[in-house]
Amino acid sequence: MAKAKCHKCEEKCGKGRADPELILKLDRAYRELLKSDSKSLMRKYLTQEIFNKLKTKKTSFGNTLMDCIQSGLINLDSGIGIYAADQECYSLFADLFDPIIEEYHGGFRKSDVHPPSDFGDISTLGNLDPKGELVVSTRIRCCRSVEGYPFNPGLSEEQYMDLESDIVSALSDLPGELKGQYIALRDMTPMQQQQLIDDHFLFKEGDRFLEAANSNRYWPMGRGIYLNENKTFLVWVNEEDHIRIISMQKGGDIGEVYARWVTAVTTLEKKLKYIRSDRFGYLTFCPTNLGTTIRASVHIKVPKLARDMNKLNDLAGRYNLQVRGTSGEHSEAQDGIYDISNKRRLGLTEIEVVREMYNGILEMIKLEKSST
Ligand code: ADP
Ligand code: ARG
Repeated sequence: MAKAKCHKCEEKCGKGRADPELILKLDRAYRELLKSDSKSLMRKYLTQEIFNKLKTKKTSFGNTLMDCIQSGLINLDSGIGIYAADQECYSLFADLFDPIIEEYHGGFRKSDVHPPSDFGDISTLGNLDPKGELVVSTRIRCCRSVEGYPFNPGLSEEQYMDLESDIVSALSDLPGELKGQYIALRDMTPMQQQQLIDDHFLFKEGDRFLEAANSNRYWPMGRGIYLNENKTFLVWVNEEDHIRIISMQKGGDIGEVYARWVTAVTTLEKKLKYIRSDRFGYLTFCPTNLGTTIRASVHIKVPKLARDMNKLNDLAGRYNLQVRGTSGEHSEAQDGIYDISNKRRLGLTEIEVVREMYNGILEMIKLEKSST
C-alpha cells in the first residue's frame, strides 16, 4: 500500500508509525514523568498501557504522542499538560485525550456529542452588578482555527503570514461598532506592546507552556491584534489559536458584552471557514477550549470570599467556575481583583455556557455581600 505523504517531513515517511529513535526518547521521558510529582491530567491518564498503545502512532501531519505531551513533560506544574499538535490527534490519541476532556469539561463522555451552536435569547442576560460595586470588567472570548491551515506547531513562517493576511482581510470591512484597526506585533514598539498587555487587551509574550509545545516559533511574525475604536472588540491573531474573538468592557453588563460578541462571531463566520468536528464542535489547540470555546469572565473584587483562597476555589468549583489572577492564566491577583470564568466549554450551547457563568457569578456576589 502506498505510504501517505507526511505534512511535516514532506516525505512518504510511513503514516502511523513514529520512528524508533523517537520511541526511545518517549520511553525515557515517560519514565521521568512517572518519577515526578506532576499533577497534570496528562500524567494522571497516561497509564503504562495507554502509553504503550500510543507511543508508536503518527498522524498524517507527522505528529506523535511526543508532539502532544511535550509541554506537560517539560512543565511538570501543568494543570492539563497536553495539546493537540494537529486536528487528527484528538482521534488518533483519543485514549489519552478522551478522559482528560471528560474530567476537564465536567463529564463529557466518549459517547457524548457537542450540540449545534445556539446563541439563545440575548435579552435574558442583564447586568451582573448594576450598582458597580464589585465587578470591574466583563469579557467573553472564543477561539477559532481556520480551515486549510495546520494548528500552531505545524505552521511554517509563510503560513503564519498568509493566515494573518487572510484573517486581517476578513476583519477589514467589519461594520459599525466592530470597525477597527489591526496592529501587527512586529510593528509595535515594546512600550506599546506592554501598555496593551497591562490594559488586558493583548496576550503576553513567551508563555512557557506554548513554548514547550512548539507554538512560539517565528514570533512575532504573523501575530497581532485587531482593536475597535472603543477597545471593546478585539481579535487576537495567531497566539495559541489562529483566532481569538473577544468582547469586553468595564462594569458588569454581560448582556451588552455578549450581544457584541455574538454579532462579531456571526459576522466573521460568513467570511472565514473554521475547523469543526461533529463530536467536539470547534477544534482548538488545547482540549480545554473545545466545543463553544467560550471563556466568559469577570474581573471582580470579592475580598471576604478571597480571605481563604482554598474556599474561594472550592466555591467557584461548585458553580463550574474557575478562578484566575488579574493578568489571566498563571498569574496572581493584584489589588484583590480576581478573574472568575466558566470552566467547561464543551457539551453546552453558547447561551448555556454564558448562562452558567452568569448564574454562578450572581451567586458568588450574593455570598460575598452576605459574608461578615
Ligand atoms: P484567555 O482568556 O484568552 O484564555 P488569559 O487568561 O491569559 O487568556 O487572559 C487574557 C487577558 O485577558 C489577560 O490580560 C486578562 O487579564 C484579560 N482578562 C480576562 N478576563 C478579563 C475581564 N473580565 N476583564 C478584563 N480583562 C480580562
Ligand atoms: N498547558 C497549560 C497547562 O496544562 C495550559 C492549559 C490550559 N490553558 C490554555 N491556555 N490552553 O497548565
